[in-house]
Amino acid sequence: MMNKLSIKVGLLFFIFIVLVELLLFFILYTNLANNQVDEVMDNLLARGNTHRDVLEDHYNKSTMEHVGIMESASDFVVVITDTNGNVIVNSNPVEPEIKQVIQSAVQQPISSDGEIIEEKWKTKKYIASDSLIKVDGEIKGHVLMFAETNKVKNMLLQLGNQFKIIGILTIILTIITILILSKFITSPLIKIKEATEQIYKGNKQIKLNLKRNDELGSLAKTITRISHDLDQLKTERSEFLTNISHELRTPLTYIKGYADIINRPNIKIEDTKNYSSIIKDEAEQLSILIKNLFDLAKVDQNKFAINQEWTPLCEVIQSVINRLRPAFNDKNLTIEEHCPKSLVAFIDPPRIQQVLINILDNAKKHSFEGGKITLNVSDTSNEIEILITDEGEGIPEEEIPYLFNRLYRIDKSRSRLSGGSGIGLTIAKEIVESHGGSIKIVSELGKGTSVKVNLPRGEKYV
Ligand SMILES: Nc1ncnc2c1ncn2[C@@H]1O[C@H](COP(=O)(O)OP(=O)(O)OP(=O)(O)O)[C@@H](O)[C@H]1O
Ligand SMILES: [Mg+2]
Repeated sequence: MMNKLSIKVGLLFFIFIVLVELLLFFILYTNLANNQVDEVMDNLLARGNTHRDVLEDHYNKSTMEHVGIMESASDFVVVITDTNGNVIVNSNPVEPEIKQVIQSAVQQPISSDGEIIEEKWKTKKYIASDSLIKVDGEIKGHVLMFAETNKVKNMLLQLGNQFKIIGILTIILTIITILILSKFITSPLIKIKEATEQIYKGNKQIKLNLKRNDELGSLAKTITRISHDLDQLKTERSEFLTNISHELRTPLTYIKGYADIINRPNIKIEDTKNYSSIIKDEAEQLSILIKNLFDLAKVDQNKFAINQEWTPLCEVIQSVINRLRPAFNDKNLTIEEHCPKSLVAFIDPPRIQQVLINILDNAKKHSFEGGKITLNVSDTSNEIEILITDEGEGIPEEEIPYLFNRLYRIDKSRSRLSGGSGIGLTIAKEIVESHGGSIKIVSELGKGTSVKVNLPRGEKYV
């Protein structure tokens, strides 16, 4: 429960609000209390001084009584005493607390402007001021003014109550915030968490549509995409394994079959030669396949390092063509090559050779007897383009998007005869892309195929 995100965020919010409230309360409370107390004291002293002024002008009993009557109607208490503290006139009954103040007042000398003589409003019942009555330079007595501290205390109590109400409101607000948070933040997070658990358990179809445009929405979309990719990856992997075992099994069946035949008694010497050459071909095919699979594994582990160097591209192309020429001659294929001789490219030569061999090998396999293959290199300021075109059987349009998938072949049975296992283009694509380039196939069924390889030009060669 305490681990719930909404509770954590809510509590944080709550603590923050309470802290702010406490701070505000403290500042307001002390300020208000001080102001209020100061005001009362100033008032008290001013009133006492006024009475004193009147009494200094008319120092007689009736004026004193008049002052007493005036204050009996106010919130204050006035007590007029002689110099010894004997009460002459009082507006309200003289309580023991008042008596105490009077006693200490007559013992302490005070200035002629009057003074606050009791200011402990928190602990005492009254605060008090004292003004000296002087007639012709002689001290005649004291005008003592008292104000009950209850009023100030009540006012501050009210303030405290208001802050309590605000506190309760804060708690309610926090609960609402927690509810809102849990709806808008936590519940989508819980959904995401459940979805990822589903993915972990191997559930294929994750649908996480939060209908939100914020970060959580895009997180949900990413998770959905990852789950689909993962699913696709799993399917691809199992297809891949099935294909591989098939690819390995077929040549092995041939090898085993022909080896059995050779071992039969009475086998003719020509047949032995024939069959052993088939065994050799199949074994070669197998070793090529295994080498390709190793390359693929490297691609998958991101260990497909390329070592680029400035290389005369046309020489690389020429050596590939020379290598493939016998195979081309077998099918009476002509190859036309156009390459700007001075062209220098920033490439990994053996890897690019592999790309060209894979593409030209495809062109050869899918060309008709006596056909023509062209290889054109063009060079712009920031790109090198290698275009290899054949006039062979072409590729159905709907197959083109899948050609670069590993082990993908169009006509499985026929390709098998011509030795393909559907890895050539996958490897070519990986190599070209790790050079920062791209590879594209354009084809028309019955007319021929063009493979376009674009490589970045690299820094200017010096
Ligand atoms: N020039 C082309 N003309 C017609 N079809 C082609 C051409 N190039 C590729 N293809 C088709 O694309 C498929 C995939 O090609 P890819 O080179 O990846 O595999 P492969 O040639 O069958 O086997 P591998 O190259 O691994 O020996 C081929 O099986 C073939 O059907
Ligand atoms: Mg191929």
